[in-house]
Amino acid sequence: LSTLPSESGWLSKKLHNYQGFWHNARQLQGVISCQKHFQAQDTDILLVTTPKSGTTWLKAILFSLVNRTRFQQTEGDHPLLSNSPHALVPFLELKLYVDGETPDLSSFASPRLFSTHLPYISLPKSVQDSKCKLVYLCRNPKDTFISLWAFTNKLKLQEIRTNSIEEVFEKFCEGISLCGPFWDHVLGYWKESLKNPEKIYFLTYEEMKEQPDLHLRKLADFLGCPFSSKEEEERVVDAILDICSFDKLSNLKVNKEGKLPSGESNNAYFRNGQVGDWKNYLTAEMAQRLEKICEEKFDGSGLKF
Ligand code: A3P
Repeated sequence: LSTLPSESGWLSKKLHNYQGFWHNARQLQGVISCQKHFQAQDTDILLVTTPKSGTTWLKAILFSLVNRTRFQQTEGDHPLLSNSPHALVPFLELKLYVDGETPDLSSFASPRLFSTHLPYISLPKSVQDSKCKLVYLCRNPKDTFISLWAFTNKLKLQEIRTNSIEEVFEKFCEGISLCGPFWDHVLGYWKESLKNPEKIYFLTYEEMKEQPDLHLRKLADFLGCPFSSKEEEERVVDAILDICSFDKLSNLKVNKEGKLPSGESNNAYFRNGQVGDWKNYLTAEMAQRLEKICEEKFDGSGLKF
């Protein structure tokens, strides 16, 4: 393990490098416990994301999609109306296994739906060995960075000190960010998804924004719960996208005022949900620098943002 001291105040915590990626101490204990103890089942669905790529949105969508026969989107008792998506689809290393816990998962209904920011190399062996499915979501690096920077400044934990955009940007470009280097995280899953498209559905925030209905249908097929008829598809796709929309979710009382058990406000996960917001924050020079790094890192991979 190598440790980066928090001289910059980045996250007000030390970051530790484990298997080539940066984690804070709490998260790292969760990563290790999860690697040791999590037993994936063939029917499990794992949403894997880079931080700030739209995890909250995809959690809501996958939960609604997989449970569409249990809960009708248009009815008042849909769990999304009174629960944060993070409560319905818990993080492995940040919630269930956080601080090295070993949770009892026996009460989870099948198919179990979990999420994680784990890099591919750090996934528990049973995830790779079983037939469980992975949905991978990432986002263009400039918006990811801005969303991450805004998030760390918003968290209660950060009240002591605000991270300047310049210093967080410098670290991000050096590959030092939560679960970074960003490009290594993305490339790990991109390469595996090309080898094994039955196992990993690779998706970007921008693709989901542009053609949400197409990806919802494709996700239903990928996850083995295709729509039974054109009629069901038309009715359900629109209803899911509506209940999971930024406007609907961010205006629910639970997401405006509620808190996660860790103390974070649910509203920290909703900012403005736009593509290209980086233009309002990054200088031309910063944008070019990050574009150049990513161009070099993704060169020859076939991946472009
Ligand atoms: P911005 O900070 O750019 O607004 P994560 O859930 O991985 O932490 O990502 C958070 C980002 O997803 C934030 O982006 C947030 O506003 C956006 N987001 C949250 N819910 C969304 C939704 N229902 N639709 C689209 N974007 C959403």
